[in-house]
Amino acid sequence: MSHFRPWPWPRVLAHRGAGKLAPENTLAAIRRSQALGFRGIEIDARLSRDEVPVVIHDRTLERTTDGHGAVADASAEEIASLDAGSWFGPEYRGEPVPTLAAVVAHCRAHGIWINLEIKRAPGNVARVGEVVARTAAQLYADALRPGGDRGECVSTAAPLLSSFGAEALQAARAAAPDLPRGWLVTEVPGDWRERLERLGCASLHVDHEALTPAQAAAVKAAGYWLFCYTVDDPGRARELFAWGVDALCTDRIDLIGPDFA
Ligand code: G3P
Ligand code: MG
Repeated sequence: MSHFRPWPWPRVLAHRGAGKLAPENTLAAIRRSQALGFRGIEIDARLSRDEVPVVIHDRTLERTTDGHGAVADASAEEIASLDAGSWFGPEYRGEPVPTLAAVVAHCRAHGIWINLEIKRAPGNVARVGEVVARTAAQLYADALRPGGDRGECVSTAAPLLSSFGAEALQAARAAAPDLPRGWLVTEVPGDWRERLERLGCASLHVDHEALTPAQAAAVKAAGYWLFCYTVDDPGRARELFAWGVDALCTDRIDLIGPDFA
C-alpha cells in the first residue's frame, strides 16, 4: 500500500471540527473552523442502536450531550433529540449530535475535506467499521475511483477513514475498497510496515508525542503518508513538518491555522 504520492489533502485539520473552540463534532464546530479558513477537519463516528452513523467521540452520551448511557444503546431518533451544545456554552444550546450524512452534506457543500475516525465499540468493532465505511462510500459515490484507497487513484474529495481498530479497518476495506484508510496508533510499533501492508492502509496516524525523527523518516521513506494527532503547540507543529510529517490535527485552530504548513 505504499505509494509515494504527496499528501493530496489539507495539511492542518481542525480536530473534532473546531478543536476546543466550539462543541466538538457538531456542525457549529465545523462552521467555526470554516470561519478561520479551515478546509479540512477530523471527526469521530459511531453507530446508534439502529446502526445509523452519528458523529460523536465518546462511547457514552454524558460528557457532550444531555443524554445518558451508551451511544450504541440509543436510537438515531433519540440521539437526534439531544442537546450537544449546552455543555460547552449557553450560546450553543440545542446544537444536535449530527449524523454522518448531515456532516458530509455540509462539508461537501462547502468544500471541507474529512478525516473520518471510526471509533471502536466494545464487541462490535468490525460492524461499526463496515457500516461507517459503506455509508461514507455511498455519500461520496460520485467521487470514488477504482483503486482509490492508495496512490494516484485517491480522490481529493473522498474522506480518509482512520481507526485504532484493526478489525474496523479490515471491515471498512471489505465494505468500501475504494476509500483510503489510515491506521491510528499511540506509538509506532516495531512491525508498523507489515501491519500497514496487511491492513491495506496508505497512512499511519500517530500520537506526535511518541514519534521520533527516525521513525518519521522511515515511514516516509517506505512511501506511506504520516499524520500526527493532536498538536497544539506551533513550535512542535513546525518541527513535525520539518521531520516530514504530512499532516496533523489540532485543537488550537486559533494558533495553528489552515495554511501553517
Ligand atoms: O484521529 C486522531 C485523534 O482524533 C485520535 O484521538 O481520542 O481525539 O479521537 P481522539
Ligand atoms: Mg478522533
